[in-house]
Amino acid sequence: MIVNRKILTLDEFTLQQLRAFPSATGELSSLLRDIGLAAKRVNVEVNKAGLVDILGDAGTINVQGEDVKKLDIYANNQFMGVLQHGISCAGIGSEELDEVVVFDDEVSNNSKYVVLFDPLDGSGNIDVNISIGTIFGVYRRISKVGTPCTAADFLQAGNRQVAAGYIVYGSSTMLVYATKRGVNGFTLDQGIGEFSLSHPDIKCPPSGRIYSVNHGNFFQYEKSVQQYINVCQKKDKTNGGPYTQRYIGSMVADVHRNLLKGGIFMYPGTTGKPKGKLRLLYECNPFAFIVEVAGGKATDGKQRILDIVPTELHQRSPLFIGSTDMMNELESYLKEA
Ligand code: AHG
Repeated sequence: MIVNRKILTLDEFTLQQLRAFPSATGELSSLLRDIGLAAKRVNVEVNKAGLVDILGDAGTINVQGEDVKKLDIYANNQFMGVLQHGISCAGIGSEELDEVVVFDDEVSNNSKYVVLFDPLDGSGNIDVNISIGTIFGVYRRISKVGTPCTAADFLQAGNRQVAAGYIVYGSSTMLVYATKRGVNGFTLDQGIGEFSLSHPDIKCPPSGRIYSVNHGNFFQYEKSVQQYINVCQKKDKTNGGPYTQRYIGSMVADVHRNLLKGGIFMYPGTTGKPKGKLRLLYECNPFAFIVEVAGGKATDGKQRILDIVPTELHQRSPLFIGSTDMMNELESYLKEA
């Protein structure tokens, strides 16, 4: 008798995917399950924010020159910890850490993956109860399995990712991950403490009506970006509008919404910061991978995000990402410029 399972947990889903590839080792599935575990732990603490003394600054400044919140450190340690004690990861790079961490023990040296993550993105929003998130990208290492991983393993172009995902700690907590085969979303079922498949095979709608950008920086954007924003504001029934502007200031939540509903998210360079604010390895690459697998596009304004070969661990990049039709229209202005 085959029991009809309507809702699969993350573990069941990854195992089911594995069954389709009898030669697969299960390392990626195990790594995703480890990330799911860390996400549940971080979720518990995020939900306590306000009740216990986990808010506020830890009194240090991270490598990006930003104040570090206590929850940032907690999240960083949880994700690093599960990956270090798991069996699938040779080392990690984190937005919170100056250098990569090479695990360098027998099991880790024999693992084929490295992971780059932003443990708590949007953490400026924690103390006002706005959605925040974790973002991660998984790469097959280029150094020899059986040896410690190297810095070069972490400086691969985003198109070398084998999987990427994010967790949004919001009105419900969701884990969304992509492999080249598709994008799937899992909602945390608090009753059983498991991520359960709620959004199978996510596709980014080719057109949308949401544009997300920090309008406060408008006069610091390049003319072509300003022109496109003006176009967004002038959309009406005659030309696919009206558009609506939505910007939370927490990229995970902004891009998650646009991925499901259709839309474009922009963090352009400004006169003061030509490369913008977002980090290529921890924010742009994972989202570019996810959105492309879902059918959308992601560029830095000049080239595909996933084709950029990084030179530094913490380098920044402008980002334009979202529904294909909106991206094409934006690109027509960028090209003219
Ligand atoms: P942080 O983690 O320091 O709070 O940064 C969040 C990121 C990203 O998630 C968000 O879209 C962007 O910064 C917002 O920046 P602005 O406030 O400059 O718009």
